[in-house]
Amino acid sequence: MPEETETDRLILTPIDSTDAAIVEAIFALQSDPATWMHLPAAVETDISQSRTRATDHAHSWTEFGLGWWLLRLRAPLGDLDAGTVIGIGGAAIRPHQAAAWNLGYRLAPAAWGHGLATEAGRAGLAAANTARPDLPVTARVLAHNRASWRTLERVGLAQIWEGDAPADYALTSGVQRRVYADRPLSSEVLDRLIALG
Ligand SMILES: CC(C)(COP(=O)(O)OP(=O)(O)OC[C@H]1O[C@@H](n2cnc3c(N)ncnc32)[C@H](O)[C@@H]1OP(=O)(O)O)[C@@H](O)C(=O)NCCC(=O)NCCS
Repeated sequence: MPEETETDRLILTPIDSTDAAIVEAIFALQSDPATWMHLPAAVETDISQSRTRATDHAHSWTEFGLGWWLLRLRAPLGDLDAGTVIGIGGAAIRPHQAAAWNLGYRLAPAAWGHGLATEAGRAGLAAANTARPDLPVTARVLAHNRASWRTLERVGLAQIWEGDAPADYALTSGVQRRVYADRPLSSEVLDRLIALG
């Protein structure tokens, strides 16, 4: 398994789908309605959904040498102890997606507002540009999720597109979406990202 790394304030642990504690930590985040306030229908209700997500990320680590991390605090922060899991994030290439890195993050509400998503996002961008510099680093966000797209802008990505999500994708149908990237995208990659909803 790839090694743990660190940023100034975070311990970055590669997501391993065979580690029950990691899958449980992901489920705690993914099943918390507060982390899905911009897309309530996507709350995960069964740990098997989080295990599938973890398996996708483990696949990205195996295939591309990089995937998302479990994020833990190196030192206490407010009421949070050192070692507390504060979220997941990073850059990954999930099996059904485009030939591009997907940069993202989901943090526990207790950790919001300290710049930690920006810190994890910058680490993900740098790691992706090292692992496969030929592939663009991209992100898909909801236009009404300001915290999410502001984080992308702080990390250094630029908005490439905004428009309606595909009508046939029930989860985001009728919602404005944006695509961000660290470089211009070919129409093939952009179309593929838009089609993901
Ligand atoms: C999006 C998220 C990761 C941001 O994490 P964070 O660590 O609080 O973000 P940062 O502290 O690095 O701040 C990044 C920017 O977002 C802004 N921001 C943070 N929380 C905000 C909120 N509730 N409303 C509006 N803007 C917000 C910050 O002010 C900052 O922008 P600025 O430079 O204009 O001041 C976090 O809110 C989260 O996990 N939300 C739920 C899951 C989610 O939406 N994930 C992304 C989409 S899948």
